[in-house]
Amino acid sequence: MAVEPAALAAATAPKGRPQAVAWDRYSLKVDGKRVVVWSGEIHPFRLPNPALWRDVIQKMKALGFNGVAFYFDWGYHSPAPGVYDFSGVRNVERALQMAKEEGMYVIARTGPYINSELSGGGYPGWMFRNSAEARTDDPVYLAAVDEWMTQVNAIIARHQITDGGGNVIAYQLENELGKVEPKHVRQMEHLARKARADGISVPFFHNSAGRLPDWTPKGSTAPWANPGPTDLYAFDGYPGGSCDVHANPSGANKAPDWGMYGSAGPKAGALSSPGTPGFVAEVGGGWFDYWGSNGTYNCTAERQGKGYQRVFYGTNLINRITIHNVYMTFGGTSWGWLGGPVVYTSYDYGAAISEDRGLRPKAYALKQQGMFVQAAEQVLAEMDKGPELAPASGKVKIYHNVNRRLGTHVLLAAHNPGDGKGEERFSVQLATRDGQYTIASRLRGQDAHMLLASYDMERQRLVYSTSELQTHLRDGERDIVLLHGRDLVEGETVLRYAGAPTVEVLAGRVKSRWDADKGDLVLNYVHDGLARARISGGGRAPMLLLLADEKTSMRFWTQETGAGRALQLTAALVRSAAIDAGKLALRGDAGEDGDIEIWGPAFEAASFNGQPLALTRQPDGSTRAGPVKGPEAVGLPEFGRLAWKRRMDSPEAAPGFDDSGWAKADRRRSAAQTWTMPERGQPTLSMSDYGFHHGDVWYRGRFTATGGKASALELFYGAGGAGMIQVWIDGRFAGQHELDVGRSFPETTDSIKLQLGDLAPGEHVIAVMVRNNSHNWNLMADDFHREARGLISASLTQRGGQRFAVPIAWRIQGRQGGEDLVDRVRGPINNGGLYGEREGWHLPSPVADAAQADRGWKPAGITDAPPAPGTFWLRTRFKLDLPRGHDIQLALSFGDTSKARSERENRVLIFVNGWNMGQFIAHIGPQRTFVIPPGILNPNGENTVALAVTSDGKAANALEPVKLVKLRAVRGGVDLEMR
Ligand code: GAL
Repeated sequence: MAVEPAALAAATAPKGRPQAVAWDRYSLKVDGKRVVVWSGEIHPFRLPNPALWRDVIQKMKALGFNGVAFYFDWGYHSPAPGVYDFSGVRNVERALQMAKEEGMYVIARTGPYINSELSGGGYPGWMFRNSAEARTDDPVYLAAVDEWMTQVNAIIARHQITDGGGNVIAYQLENELGKVEPKHVRQMEHLARKARADGISVPFFHNSAGRLPDWTPKGSTAPWANPGPTDLYAFDGYPGGSCDVHANPSGANKAPDWGMYGSAGPKAGALSSPGTPGFVAEVGGGWFDYWGSNGTYNCTAERQGKGYQRVFYGTNLINRITIHNVYMTFGGTSWGWLGGPVVYTSYDYGAAISEDRGLRPKAYALKQQGMFVQAAEQVLAEMDKGPELAPASGKVKIYHNVNRRLGTHVLLAAHNPGDGKGEERFSVQLATRDGQYTIASRLRGQDAHMLLASYDMERQRLVYSTSELQTHLRDGERDIVLLHGRDLVEGETVLRYAGAPTVEVLAGRVKSRWDADKGDLVLNYVHDGLARARISGGGRAPMLLLLADEKTSMRFWTQETGAGRALQLTAALVRSAAIDAGKLALRGDAGEDGDIEIWGPAFEAASFNGQPLALTRQPDGSTRAGPVKGPEAVGLPEFGRLAWKRRMDSPEAAPGFDDSGWAKADRRRSAAQTWTMPERGQPTLSMSDYGFHHGDVWYRGRFTATGGKASALELFYGAGGAGMIQVWIDGRFAGQHELDVGRSFPETTDSIKLQLGDLAPGEHVIAVMVRNNSHNWNLMADDFHREARGLISASLTQRGGQRFAVPIAWRIQGRQGGEDLVDRVRGPINNGGLYGEREGWHLPSPVADAAQADRGWKPAGITDAPPAPGTFWLRTRFKLDLPRGHDIQLALSFGDTSKARSERENRVLIFVNGWNMGQFIAHIGPQRTFVIPPGILNPNGENTVALAVTSDGKAANALEPVKLVKLRAVRGGVDLEMR
């Protein structure tokens, strides 16, 4: 057989150069070079469009991250035992490839249990009917786990730094497994053996809840440590306080010492493993929000905003935490039935990158920090405690580290106590190899300053600065150094020279003084706009010193161009910069008209997203390039004016509905029994026992009444956070019930009691719809995920002299096909078992077939009174023609978005082109705006929105107006793909 030479060459090409990953107590080392892994968490499964993974990863790179952590959600890929799907939106291999292409390390977290506010903590539906003791060495559990690991590890294994195929640098076993009994230890050992057998060669770690000393590497000398089969020890922590009005909002927290400044003991964080690098696998970058809250995401983003980041992440860095992962950096959307009981659809998290993929203000402070970490990585990666410094004011605490190899000092000035927010001056005496100095500055508000002394930046020596370092680069003959400070706060920078240098102030006000005794050039200034000074002579390469105030500093970006490092100042987001044959190609997003000032390697021509820019050379050697154009106006259809059609669902309520094809609910064994039991003598009704796991499930029960009086029906049901039940008797709506919400851990089961009155002798039919909003997580390793969903038990009593129980014969129907997935594109978490879903009413129909598809649908207005109790559908088709070459993030909004909830009692499953983009619950809230990523919505073509509205049918509970709204528009973005 002839082999295609090209195919052969591609298949056998080396994957890249394998690199060795080693470590010591300071940091990881890649091929001997120390690295600080400055990482942010994103979940590809919470953004159903792989093209947009690149958008988020590029934004993170631009913010100075060099790493990304991914959870992998078992249940997202596996609809049934032995069935796995990594295609389309589930193609996580692409996420790994993109991370590599964008130069980001990957921390891979595959569970099998991951928590993450997911339904069942990431378990697939079929695990809810599996009676194995999860998170132990129960062979039935391990057999299930091995399926998943075989699949996901095969993908991860080919993207490891250690084999040259990618950038995966560390691999997490389990997640917050707080139990360390032998059966859990044996499980961990099994996972480790399995991962190694599957070819995972990067270091293993576990994420220990709240700094507990669990699963430290064997050989840890901390006496309180609980060793396990790990190489690195990692922990998590969420010190950001709460915006939750119900949960006793805590005041500003004090930044904890989780590394070398901490105190020994069983919650010591990094001290539990003194031989491995400080590794925080999750540090709060926000917090999640729950059904019935007042909507905390914006509050969280503020509260865990720039001051929090500087104080808390700064404290982590000075504690020598050199593997640092911010959970979440982009939270995304728990679309479909992804979310667990503790969250509603939006998983925005108050993160630096909001759910609409925009950069929040705090992202820009993270960028200052990230650029600093990249510039000073070698210093930060090898620090020890320096001699204690006693500041003149007791209201400021100064941490003092030294990098002995480089001779550099790192100071962190923070409030003392650490939750201080006032204005405090401080000054300390610092002895360095360059001499003895007094370093004085001030803190204002929630803030911390990380300062360097005796630091070599390119060919310059920074003796010290009270400004913070943002970046430095070599620009041919000269060096460029960017320092920054808070607006209108004074700064002092001292540089070392052999002889007096020449200082030319090109912009701003900078005073300079030459101290010939020490060989120091002393610069004094106030951070105000951008000061520029050219310093030459004195025995060093010339330098351009840029001194930025806070708002200016936040507009700087830097990247490797292939021809050297470049620096830009612009309001636009700069994703990437490449120089090829003298042409600089910038890519990015412009939210307004403007220009870009560029420093770094020479170029003759420049473009932004392919648009040529006119160039003007500036006196300091930079180039001003423009114009950069902001977005075009965006026109959107007015939803209220579109032609909507409506159709009643819930035909199952009718007595004559044909349920002969439904499964009989007559099984006697239930996986749910640890938590929830059927009535004595009754079969299990738990939906998962019948292979229906997500969303809505219907039951129809037949019983024979003997002419009893005052019949009463009690239904015990499980439905996750904000789930509900609706009940009909003989086609008559008997009532509905919703689970209690309004606190972070909601009710997940409850019962409804219905008085049915006097039933005529003969056969009667009960029809029940349960909306299962989610399965419990298994955080405490107590198999809580197996708590039943759907009906748990039903008891019907009649009074005929005395009360007696009436047997009911049940049938059940959930999602079409059950575990035998029908919609393989949208995957296992898109659909539940509404009649309309089973019939495909949520799917887009080609325009040509519209008439056919609309049979049975009647014109209606969005806010018309519901036709009847139960569920009805509203559907419309519309065209979008949004400007090309833009990233326009749209959303669907319901009613008055300034309020968390309204009086109207209804809930809506939102289907966009067949994708279940979440659930709106009017009277529970707080979410009223639903992000619909481009690619799910076609920005240049036909779209179908289908809303499944569930209510008690009363006119007062009609739907509020629905709108298509623009959340964010920029010119730029990444190349789009339609799903
Ligand atoms: C951690 C857990 C994560 C997530 C987080 C809160 O304890 O490891 O999976 O649940 O809390 O968002």
